Amino acid sequence: MDAATSFHVPPETSADRKRFYDRLAARHTGPLWEALGRLITPEPRSACVATLWRYEDIRPLLMEAGRLITAKEAERRVLVLQNPGLAGAAQITQSLYAGIQVVMPGEVAASHRHVASALRFVIESDGAYTAVDGERAVMRPGDFILTPSWSFHDHGNTGQNPAVWLDGLDLPIVNLFDTSFAERGPDEVQAVTRPDGDALSRYGAGLLPLEYRASGLSAPLFTYPYDRSREALLLLSRSGPIDPRHGLKLQYVNPATGGYPMPTIAAFLQLLPGGFRGAPYRGTDATVYCGVEGQGRCRVGETVFSWGAHDVFVVPSWHVVAHEADEDDVLFSFSDRAAQKVLGLWREESL
Ligand SMILES: [Fe+2]
Repeated sequence: MDAATSFHVPPETSADRKRFYDRLAARHTGPLWEALGRLITPEPRSACVATLWRYEDIRPLLMEAGRLITAKEAERRVLVLQNPGLAGAAQITQSLYAGIQVVMPGEVAASHRHVASALRFVIESDGAYTAVDGERAVMRPGDFILTPSWSFHDHGNTGQNPAVWLDGLDLPIVNLFDTSFAERGPDEVQAVTRPDGDALSRYGAGLLPLEYRASGLSAPLFTYPYDRSREALLLLSRSGPIDPRHGLKLQYVNPATGGYPMPTIAAFLQLLPGGFRGAPYRGTDATVYCGVEGQGRCRVGETVFSWGAHDVFVVPSWHVVAHEADEDDVLFSFSDRAAQKVLGLWREESL
């Protein structure tokens, strides 16, 4: 490593200096000049690696897990998407956890709550639901569902087929701050206290209760049905403008604030029109993508991911990304952009 690629090059280590460092270590101290080049880098140097998980590889393993362990034993039957650059950590990026969860027909994933905020992006479902604080939301493929920090949530599958979704949580952020709390609900399945569709009508119809004041940091709305999001994407893709880097890209919103739906996580839905050749772009928020419709390509540095529906891939912080589509494609994504913006850390660059 030299001065061109490093903020600071450690000085030569002499025998005298080494003996001094050993004495420092015995007093739980250390020389900053030996560590500075690793602590402060001229640009992000993530250990996170660009990786693609094909759904056709993951689904059989998920079904095998369904036979091997019950949802009750597992608490949540999830295959964690472990970034190979973050060996052993249940992390897809430095700041985010992602996993693929299955609930078999007739099963329940019992009520619990935790400080970590979670999102679900539904992959397969013909009758599953998520209940959040007394209200159930039917899960349909493409639906984006929130379980905000410290909300009781349980999942059930009343359909005929396995229900599968992508989970995204801010667990590494919660654990970075050592702020994890969790507890089980009083009942396995929480009592339903509000009718289906209550929150969507109250907060997600372009209206809000009179003189509404947000009571929390997350959206009061906890389901964003795909049929509505898809209709908006398709309509706007015809009228444009189409961003040269992102195609037609929209962000999920907290209708009470206009901000991101959760304090730590931002989520997006984008349509890449047929023939799209995206301009290269990078941002500091490592981003997890999930294919929804079509088959596209994503160039991440020298790597090219050819993705299809339900495939998941991750683009690490500050890696150059370019999207390509031969037909109309739809991509879901999420990142820690919400947290980075609040902390004044987020940067992006078009190349
Ligand atoms: Fe949970």
